Amino acid sequence: MEKMKDSKGKQVTWCLMFCVSTAVIGSLQFGYNTGVINAPDEKVQNFIRNVTQERSGEPMDKSTLTTVWSVTVSIFNVGGMIGSLTVGTLVDKLGRRKCMLLSNILALIGGGLMGLSSMCTSYELIIVGRLVIGAFCGLCTGLTPMYVGEIAPTALRGAFGTLHQLGVVIGILIAQILGLELLLGSQYLWPLLLALTVVPAVLQCVMLIFCPESPRYLLITLNQEEEARQVLTRLRGHSDVEDDIHEMKEEALKMSMEKKVSIPELFRNSAYRQPIIIAIILQLSQQLSGINAVIYYSTKIFRYAGITEAVYATIGVGAVNTLFTVISLFLVERAGRRTLHMVGLAGMTVCALLMTISLELLNPTGAKAGSGANTTAIPESVSAGGTSAISVLAILAVFGFVASFEMGPGPIPWFIVAELFAQGPRPAAIAVAGCCNWTASFLVGLLFPKLLDLCQAYVFIIFLVLLIIFFMFTYFRVPETKGRTFEDIASGFSNAAGSNAANYTSPEGAITMPVSPSSEKFQMTE
Ligand code: GLC
Repeated sequence: MEKMKDSKGKQVTWCLMFCVSTAVIGSLQFGYNTGVINAPDEKVQNFIRNVTQERSGEPMDKSTLTTVWSVTVSIFNVGGMIGSLTVGTLVDKLGRRKCMLLSNILALIGGGLMGLSSMCTSYELIIVGRLVIGAFCGLCTGLTPMYVGEIAPTALRGAFGTLHQLGVVIGILIAQILGLELLLGSQYLWPLLLALTVVPAVLQCVMLIFCPESPRYLLITLNQEEEARQVLTRLRGHSDVEDDIHEMKEEALKMSMEKKVSIPELFRNSAYRQPIIIAIILQLSQQLSGINAVIYYSTKIFRYAGITEAVYATIGVGAVNTLFTVISLFLVERAGRRTLHMVGLAGMTVCALLMTISLELLNPTGAKAGSGANTTAIPESVSAGGTSAISVLAILAVFGFVASFEMGPGPIPWFIVAELFAQGPRPAAIAVAGCCNWTASFLVGLLFPKLLDLCQAYVFIIFLVLLIIFFMFTYFRVPETKGRTFEDIASGFSNAAGSNAANYTSPEGAITMPVSPSSEKFQMTE
């Protein structure tokens, strides 16, 4: 197997790249389906109105339409909660690879239903389709980071983990571009835009045929050492895989002494309590940072800031989003997860303040928008008359907010959960963390329009306060996992739970864990 780079512990082979690219198609699907509903919203709402008119002779009234539309948008998250919660049971029964393969059936069903909605004059098909696609994406947000984390060499786990988020942001960007009216966001083509998700699903199925099962699953869960050795040889590009095998065997031995870890067990057992709390709070820090408020409402914010072609500025957000995820990919193995997460949260805090100031200055009269669930304090039309310095500040603040997010809070929570837990509790932990993420995202989507109505330009102050809390939590509670083996990280928590936790508090206050010889070796190779 050809090796692209061969410094100790950092081997990247074509086989490894192929497997990771295959898994990351799942991340792309999550991003695409997150972003796809925004651009054609007016067209789909018109369709819903017309279908009702055709059925009953009366057009749907505005408030019912708003409700139906909110359900259409947010049912995706309900599906996500279900999908993310079931991932733990499925991966242990079927294995990572088969689970990815079968999950695509949901993508085919969901995409098919949405694509047929217009032909069947049924908006209900869009709603059911969004639920099914949400369940599929919920599975993806667990499966991709798990498979990637389990096949990546320890020294590159962070960089590979960030690829999940890169897939997400590219998915969002593709959806934003294809959603343009001149492409697929038109009155007749929007069903195709929604159904397009079946294409990557088919592609992933074909590629998965050539991907091996996770060696950790083979050895630790199925006790198939020879098969695991063969897979590792393919992934690493050489047969000297003793270090990996040794580490997995240690983990397998530990696991054989413990009973299977269920979700309630994660909270009962003191060795898991601390990492599960960290995993949950990191997921909350991602969603309650307000990122999706910006992703969904950036067009409104830009219009307010005096940009006439606001939709293109929104594509600019997608581009900044992608660019900074790439930057984070290169930094995560140097700066470490904890530092980057804090840098990202701090940057978002400053930008949230700048957004608040610029929005307030752009709207000094505090003009209230009309009442109603769908109205906001940010008017649709531009009154600023050209792009002023304050408008530029507002735009830069939005870009800075998104860029800071992608430095840490975007990618890190997704892959750090797989790092904080050993093989036994990992599936249950990923399920809990994923479900918390989807629930928080559901709540932000549901509550943000109402909060915007209520707080107007000051709405980002809520996120600012939460960001400061998450920054403090990360500073005091989150350990660094860069360059450490799974086994080492997990035993750090068990030791901390077994002895006085205060013994594991570093001078800076962050919990540190004893460094085993194996992790020292990995750190030295960097
Ligand atoms: C993360 C979040 C997702 C968000 C995206 C923005 O993946 O989980 O909700 O839309 O980042 O880049």
